[in-house]
Amino acid sequence: EKGDFEHFMLKEIFEQPKTIEDTFRGRINPEHTEIVLGGLLDVLPKILKARRIIIIGCGTSWHAALVGEYLIEEYARIPVEVEYASEFRYRNPILNSEDVVIAISQSGETADTLAALRMAKERGATILGVCNVVGSSIARETDGGVYTHAGVEIGVASTKAFTAQVTIMTLFALKLAKENGRISSGLYLDLIKELSEIPEKVKSILVKHPHIKEVAAKYKDAINALYLGRGALFPVALEGALKLKEISYIHAEGYAAGEMKHGPIALVDDNLPVIVVAAKDHYYEKIVSNIQEVKARKGNIIAVVTEGDTGLTSMVNDLFEIPKSHPAVSPLLAIIPLQLFSYYIAVMRGCDVDQPRNLAKSVTVE
Ligand code: F6R
Repeated sequence: EKGDFEHFMLKEIFEQPKTIEDTFRGRINPEHTEIVLGGLLDVLPKILKARRIIIIGCGTSWHAALVGEYLIEEYARIPVEVEYASEFRYRNPILNSEDVVIAISQSGETADTLAALRMAKERGATILGVCNVVGSSIARETDGGVYTHAGVEIGVASTKAFTAQVTIMTLFALKLAKENGRISSGLYLDLIKELSEIPEKVKSILVKHPHIKEVAAKYKDAINALYLGRGALFPVALEGALKLKEISYIHAEGYAAGEMKHGPIALVDDNLPVIVVAAKDHYYEKIVSNIQEVKARKGNIIAVVTEGDTGLTSMVNDLFEIPKSHPAVSPLLAIIPLQLFSYYIAVMRGCDVDQPRNLAKSVTVE
């Protein structure tokens, strides 16, 4: 039931402090010193020896996979590739028993993802699943996996399932890093702590929804929007753009900010909202230059920034602040204002937020 919320999507956005916590609780010991992923116990030695990890998915789940790629390579130093399941299944990939293929799927029933997994299994790879629906086809057919504990997601546009998937990717990356000795125990403990603080930080973003709604009102009549990010915040830009297009029908594109001058900068004029995910991390200086480039062409900039970062105030039109956090966990915070921004714009445009046109919650045909 929707309770006090006007739509399931809004309710699910507001559930995220709990669903993120439900997803890591039981996977982190009470002392916050160890990550336990029971569903991977049998296959862990295989993953640690993997030649590479390939993560597959569609849509939002593919975006969570991209965050996983950044985290696993950064902390565990195991090569990772991310592919659209729909491409992977048809392109005759080179696979053998030294490969681990992980499917991310909220429903666990996506036709392309399931078919890609079956193909990978036939070719000898170890196959794993990160699913939300317990007992779903992908969950049943895999050699191991981890459930996201997001609860039932009714809104067609995925919100709480995404942050649960990213939470699992974070736990998984840290677990592998610890097991293969690539992370110092100090950093490992710090990052477990950072993750455990995310639910409170998400709450502090959600309470600012009136501000996000005001900003949304300014941009509700946009025809196009450009989302930019770098590093693990690049997939957040992609996910922000997907949310906007699927529920408000505004054409939106997500881009790696460094790619801007290779094409999309031609779109920038005084009509174009450019949403820049600019939280403080080691890409920050680079993203500030991208903001300057957009400003010089009179684009309207909405920046997601770290609280207290006043340096950008004069450069941008609007700011969404997120609490300070380690860059490893900031995707979980940066996506929250973008979900709300899309939601409010879609509502103001009179769109059917929970059931956008032409979309289905579970894509069981290709
Ligand atoms: C976006 C969305 C879709 C799904 C995609 C994969 O909001 O909901 O892009 O993410 O269809 O679905 P699952 O995760 O069920 O495999």
